[in-house]
Amino acid sequence: MEARTRLFVGTILVSVYCLRGVAGQYAALPLRKKLLENYDRRVRPVLDQSTTVRLDVDVALRQVVDLNELQEVFTTLMWLRLYWTDELLQWNTSQYDGLTTTTFHSSEVWRPDIFLINNIGQGSGNLLPVTDVSVSSEGRVAWRQPSLFSSSCKVDVSQFPYDEQTCILEFSSWLYGGNDLDLFNISATMDLTAFQQNDQFEVTHTKVERKVTFYACCPGPWPSIELHIHLKRRRLFYIVNMVVPCLDLLMLNLAAFYIPPDSGERLGFTITVLLSLVVFQQLLTTQLPATSTSTPMLGKFFTATIVLVTISLLITILVLRLSHPSHPSRPLPRWLRRLVLHYMASFFCMCNIANDIHAKKRSTPKTPQDGNNDWSDDDTGMNDIVLGSRHQITIDDQKHRSTLKTISSKVENISDYLQGKENDDEEESEWKMAALVLDRAAMLATAIASVVISLVFLL
Ligand SMILES: *[C@@H]1O[C@H](CO)[C@@H](O)[C@H](O)[C@H]1NC(C)=O
Repeated sequence: MEARTRLFVGTILVSVYCLRGVAGQYAALPLRKKLLENYDRRVRPVLDQSTTVRLDVDVALRQVVDLNELQEVFTTLMWLRLYWTDELLQWNTSQYDGLTTTTFHSSEVWRPDIFLINNIGQGSGNLLPVTDVSVSSEGRVAWRQPSLFSSSCKVDVSQFPYDEQTCILEFSSWLYGGNDLDLFNISATMDLTAFQQNDQFEVTHTKVERKVTFYACCPGPWPSIELHIHLKRRRLFYIVNMVVPCLDLLMLNLAAFYIPPDSGERLGFTITVLLSLVVFQQLLTTQLPATSTSTPMLGKFFTATIVLVTISLLITILVLRLSHPSHPSRPLPRWLRRLVLHYMASFFCMCNIANDIHAKKRSTPKTPQDGNNDWSDDDTGMNDIVLGSRHQITIDDQKHRSTLKTISSKVENISDYLQGKENDDEEESEWKMAALVLDRAAMLATAIASVVISLVFLL
């Protein structure tokens, strides 16, 4: 019995509840019919034509879809929330079963003709009536609608990939001036509650502003709502894929100076580094807008690196050329010798070369005299032998003497030849040493330039 009673009571309660719902639904139908009777959605919804319709605008940013640097198009998905009062959509709640709100499709009632002024996408940047609007008994209309907007955005890539961009979206009415339809922003920033982060850009902050413009054509103020979206580029992708390889190549270019210049490998090595850089730069240019008004920082970095590697290559060629002087080689010019082998060598701590040169310099002028003295000493030695032989063996002196003369002149020739060769070698080795010192100087200069380029870019 108890279960039956409970079921009975339950059925009654449910029926009452449903009837109430039907009654509410029942009240809504005549209300809609009554309100839309004689309603023209093209007429501004005011009883007195001098009344200004106040439009309150609130915008939630849902997603930054894309910022196309090439075409300077900024695409966002936003939820627009527009609120205004429609004086023709008011009713006495007690006459309609206490119904306080009702809904209409946005195409059924008057809507403010809000356009995105700096629209650049397909269409005109207007808000198509898609969603329903809710209306309260005081005539307060709330229209919330998602929309995809493509606005033009001036992109400055001079700091790329460390750049920050500000894109502005401006909303205004085409038809109504400030006296008919006034625009106000509800909050100073955009609502980011439902914001979905973008992989390429980070939204640092947003700003919503009311702006009033006076046009020459049309009297009265023209209020508009400006949305400022500040974007900061996420640079990790560029650091990992562009900057780090470029720094690697800079380091390899420096390491190339460690390869002995005599070895032909070095030229090939530096050329390979240069080629890799050019390939990287080609990849980079496909990622960047083809503007000549401002060069991206990454592009400057690559260009500086390529120039540096090219200079290294030229120095390598020069050093190679100096290491293999053509024959007959000219002696190192005096000033070059002094500059390179003396000052530069001691500056770059190549003291052995500097000392060597000093020692040679001191000994060099003596060499011909020393050689002569040596030779005369040798000559007297030879005479001693000759004298000794004369005492010991007494055969035909004349014959022996002439033979010895011939031998001595031959030996003299050989000695001269060797002397000349030694001088040649000395000159050649001087050229080589100069090349080594220049190479060391170039290595140091390259190291400093590499560090400066890297620091300027990274900081
Ligand atoms: C609303 O309707 C009730 C009942 O018809 C009436 O008594 C009341 O005065 C009306 N209120 C207004 C503001 O018209």
